[in-house]
Amino acid sequence: MWRLVTILFLLLNGVCEGGITSSYVRKAAPSIEIPKKKFPPPPGYNAPEQVHITQGDYTGKSMIVSWVTPLEEQPKYVTYWEADEENDNKRNRARSITTTYRYYNYSSDYIHHATIKRLKYNTKYMYVLGKGNCTRKFWFTTPPEVGPDVPYTFGLIGDLGQTQASNQTLEHYLASGKGQTVLFLGDFSYADAHPFHDNEKWDTFGRFIEKSNAYEPWIYCAGNHELDLAPEIGEQVLFKPYKHRYHVPYRASQSTSPLWYSIKRASAHIIVLSSYSAFSIYTPQYRWLKEELPKVNRSETPWLIVLMHSPMYNSNNYHYKEGETMRVVFEPWFVKYKVDLVFAGHVHSYERSERVSNIQYNITEGISSPIKDPSAPVYITIGDGGNIEGIADSFIEHQPSYSAFREASFGHALLEIKNRTHAFYTWHRNQDSMAVSGDTIWFYNRYWFPKEESSSST
Ligand SMILES: [Fe+2]
Repeated sequence: MWRLVTILFLLLNGVCEGGITSSYVRKAAPSIEIPKKKFPPPPGYNAPEQVHITQGDYTGKSMIVSWVTPLEEQPKYVTYWEADEENDNKRNRARSITTTYRYYNYSSDYIHHATIKRLKYNTKYMYVLGKGNCTRKFWFTTPPEVGPDVPYTFGLIGDLGQTQASNQTLEHYLASGKGQTVLFLGDFSYADAHPFHDNEKWDTFGRFIEKSNAYEPWIYCAGNHELDLAPEIGEQVLFKPYKHRYHVPYRASQSTSPLWYSIKRASAHIIVLSSYSAFSIYTPQYRWLKEELPKVNRSETPWLIVLMHSPMYNSNNYHYKEGETMRVVFEPWFVKYKVDLVFAGHVHSYERSERVSNIQYNITEGISSPIKDPSAPVYITIGDGGNIEGIADSFIEHQPSYSAFREASFGHALLEIKNRTHAFYTWHRNQDSMAVSGDTIWFYNRYWFPKEESSSST
């Protein structure tokens, strides 16, 4: 009896402290990169490859379709039609803009980006690329019209890379069949981990994610492994391969850079920020965000979600406090505008925070650490996609009170928005079946239903 009471006391005490460090011990396995030859290009002359799509406008009526052709610049168009339309005369075309780039001793193939406009909401479309016997066929479904109670499910993946673990993460996510759009937290190919930033790794990465990203949009956020800064080999243009390969609709949200922008999708307003661009006062990113946040209409898009690469709250020894300067600049706005969720990557493990803020800094009162704040976002670090550098398994020993749950495992998450008040969130480690959730919580919307949440973590 006393043993039971003691265990209960310890459990409750742990919960009251707010922090759980998972006892799950990940089976030791290095992040071994899959060889290039395992990502061959599709067969046939000049077959289109590395097909990927993302939202092409502010509200979800356009789609940017991107692909690569290896030998010829032509054809420079995508053919598309509504999936239930059998009349061939109803097929349409969107023309691409085409780019190439050089990176040290690498010359890219032809990279195409075509924006399909004026799509119908909530409709399945087929699209084909290439010609003759090298034609390749794909499909996507447009989101419902933007509205406050529109259910929608986002997948969350960060720091993916192209290792065996990366493949497990993506397969696991796809097996759930629930995700409609991926929010990707940055660090794509890890090409920069190879001599001269071997840009063929950008190609193999494009082939790797095609099984997901050709069929559902990924909302892209740039990480440090997209910088590709290498002055020692004459490469001084920041984000060069990334910007050529992954186009986003930044102008639709009056942004001046593809590295920060926003979109509305279903019942969510999603803001993408750049941890590796200037963000202090008077910089373009600061000014854009300052103007963007008051525009968010919670009656139209109740869920306000921010994506960035470097986390603002992180209790892992890896990259500890790297996000601190951005936190100091942007956190007061996140609280003021009641941001629901902030997702980040960078740290190769999983962590979810309490709703806390650290904006009351006051020397006289001695207030200098995070406190519970119902207007604050929950910060989730989900840089556990697979990467090439291994798992970040060194947490700060005494779990800070702002940290609700943390675990050093690879995985992904699902955010199932149900209506304007409730969203069901689950995190899934790669070793489990999809029916198992390592971390589960009902999130309550900060604008419509700002009650305290409770979680269950296994
Ligand atoms: Fe990173």
